[in-house]
Amino acid sequence: MGKNTSVGKYIEGLPKAELHVHIEGTFEPELMFKIAGRNNIKIKYRSVEEVRAAYKFNDLQDFLDIYYEGTSVLREEKDFYDLAYAYLEKACEQNILHSEIFFDPQTHAARGIKFKTVIDGLYGAIEDALKKRGISAKLIMCFLRDVDPVSAMKTLQEALPYKDRIVGVGLDSAEVGHPASSFKEVFDEARKNGFLTVAHAGEEGPAEYIWQALELLKVLRVDHCIHALDDKKLVEELVRRKIPLTVCPLSNVKLKVVDNIKHHPLKKMMEKGLFVTINSDDPAYFGGYINENYLAVAKALELGEQDLSVIAKNSFRASFIGESEKEKLINKVDTYNSSFEG
Ligand code: ADE
Ligand code: ZN
Repeated sequence: MGKNTSVGKYIEGLPKAELHVHIEGTFEPELMFKIAGRNNIKIKYRSVEEVRAAYKFNDLQDFLDIYYEGTSVLREEKDFYDLAYAYLEKACEQNILHSEIFFDPQTHAARGIKFKTVIDGLYGAIEDALKKRGISAKLIMCFLRDVDPVSAMKTLQEALPYKDRIVGVGLDSAEVGHPASSFKEVFDEARKNGFLTVAHAGEEGPAEYIWQALELLKVLRVDHCIHALDDKKLVEELVRRKIPLTVCPLSNVKLKVVDNIKHHPLKKMMEKGLFVTINSDDPAYFGGYINENYLAVAKALELGEQDLSVIAKNSFRASFIGESEKEKLINKVDTYNSSFEG
């Protein structure tokens, strides 16, 4: 690797996977207006600029209120297709070779949108993006933790006919006051049906919720997990079990979970031996896609090409693709490193 290289250029070309992105959180205001227009839905903002100006959040709930409102214009299969295809194109531009994408079916069911409409649209975009752009992607269905677990179980039943299109289940939405433990039964049922499991935990919530995600939901990855650092035993356990963590730096700053990117715990997490990846979460709302997340922490925490390369390899290692495909993608990082001349 060259010495005097620009870290930004290095990040742009670095092959990587994204493992924590909510498709509804990739909804750019321009597309929101376009879809609202063709569906004859009025939105409360007059312009794209006005929408962007509203994206100032005090906490997770403050963001979720605006995020769920944004989804209200999504009605038809084509809307979900366009949303996912736009994200996948952006992902290709940022050298994401594989992405695992969350979607929130309960949010859409609450507006009367059928599961089939959502899944056909999202999956159609994934198939086309693979054919046309070569990017691979998988879907992870999230349950809303601030909604009754009975509704999660009903959603799981609705998903069963489509289970070959959904690699796993997750848990998202407002965390504090909604412990992972309430979803033990539905996660048990999901695993019985072959779904892999992940969960948001330790974003705003305490380390105890991360223990619950590990012990009760038996998750294979933890989303966010930055509050693990409050519990020494938990850190040791996460290291021992090599549990991948999908960290989202710009999200943490935008939602005031971390007061300044310079104080983000990502580097500390790496130093403790945690299995860290970098992801965008809700890029349309938080001021950056994956490369902007890599760049923000690289600059603020002085991460070098070596650290970033480890993180990119981690992203492939932590993904839900087959072992031989993983090896191929990890090798691409090595090939990139040996050819990169800043
Ligand atoms: N849904 C979309 N973004 C989320 C986040 N950062 N935390 C929890 N739920 C979410
Ligand atoms: Zn998230």
